[in-house]
Amino acid sequence: MTAFPRLVARLGDVSALDDVLRAKFAQPGRVLGTVERVVTAALDTPGSADGLIRQELRDARYLHSRERRLVADAINDLLRYLPVLSGSVGKPGDVPAAWQQWLAQRGGGADVGAWLQTAAAALPAHEAVQLVGNVSEDLARALLESVDVDAFISESNSRADVILRVNRKRGSAEQLHKRLAMDGIITREATHAKDGLVVEGRPNLRGHRMYRDGWFEVQDEASQCLVDLVSGDGPVVDWCAGAGGKSLALASRFPKRPVFAFDVRSKALQELGKRAKRAGVSIRSGIHGQDAPNILRKLGTVSSVVVDAPCTGTGVWRRHPAYRLGVDGERIDGLVETQQRVLHDAAKWVAPGGQLVYATCSVLRAENEGAVAAFLERHPDFTQRSVRRWDVGETDGFFTADLVRQ
Ligand SMILES: C[S@@+](CC[C@H](N)C(=O)[O-])C[C@H]1O[C@@H](n2cnc3c(N)ncnc32)[C@H](O)[C@@H]1O
Repeated sequence: MTAFPRLVARLGDVSALDDVLRAKFAQPGRVLGTVERVVTAALDTPGSADGLIRQELRDARYLHSRERRLVADAINDLLRYLPVLSGSVGKPGDVPAAWQQWLAQRGGGADVGAWLQTAAAALPAHEAVQLVGNVSEDLARALLESVDVDAFISESNSRADVILRVNRKRGSAEQLHKRLAMDGIITREATHAKDGLVVEGRPNLRGHRMYRDGWFEVQDEASQCLVDLVSGDGPVVDWCAGAGGKSLALASRFPKRPVFAFDVRSKALQELGKRAKRAGVSIRSGIHGQDAPNILRKLGTVSSVVVDAPCTGTGVWRRHPAYRLGVDGERIDGLVETQQRVLHDAAKWVAPGGQLVYATCSVLRAENEGAVAAFLERHPDFTQRSVRRWDVGETDGFFTADLVRQ
């Protein structure tokens, strides 16, 4: 008897997962119940599945921390490998073997992707990508046009390192490294990010005193490197600041340049306010369509405007496996349109000789090179100084373009 009647109704036979989890937990009942409830809810609301999963896991106080980690792994792997579990590819009899392999290799990175690729080899390319990546047909086609899909999916299904960004206002990476080591948290210098430290394992960082004292934030290397592109002087505008990842990095790197953070979400800006306070930096924020226009009018044009645009998030599946759900052609087109609108609005605030720095955490050409080309065609007073694509693997999938106004 499966413990997953609702998942079976949706997906067919998932007994392999059942077996895997029963073998892993001393008291499988509550764990299986949580996994089923959360995955079913995520599949019902694919557009907001990532937030829902995080909220559910935060609220699941009845789980011990080890159980919570395993539940998160199970949910994430379910979303990654649904086609295997539901027997959509390969012979149904192969499924438990794939999961045994997963179990045996868990921690070192399961190669179910390779298994899937073999099973899907007989299909047309986009159908194979649909199955291997567990994505819509439109997203499968967009990925095929944008990346080396085999490498992309296999990297995207692996586990990302946790990276810290040291807040220069508080001290140096070396000081932080030594201080964390005293509490048994081992870090090493990051490869690309000047202020980055790579953390060994998964210690509880947000509970650490150095975090509460604003010494660091958790931020991927490619995101941290966005500040390396920012040149000029005077105020910097972060047009899509969200909860402030880039604004805080800018304030840390350029202590003498005022940072202005805008977004459409007031709640995210409130969170930015809390983080800025912790970091000991001052960031002026405003909501687009409300107080932002007034602040911008007074500010006038500036030498650097950063647009970290809303996107599909296809570059960050390692950290957010649920981002793959609900991304169909309509969603991609909608985001591409929003990206043009946002770029157009932000460009007005770039002073002559100044820069518009565009970034996404997507790997799709339409949102990256395509977005830049469409913008430059409609804005002949801008030229492209540089573009950079960061592949999923060493860093998250990320894209940056430095566009200069004549
Ligand atoms: C990729 S996220 C930004 C992440 C943030 N920069 C960080 O580093 O944490 C994109 C942001 O764009 C915002 N956004 C969506 N539509 C927008 C619009 N029309 N104008 C400006 N920002 C928008 C979203 O609310 C979201 O916070």
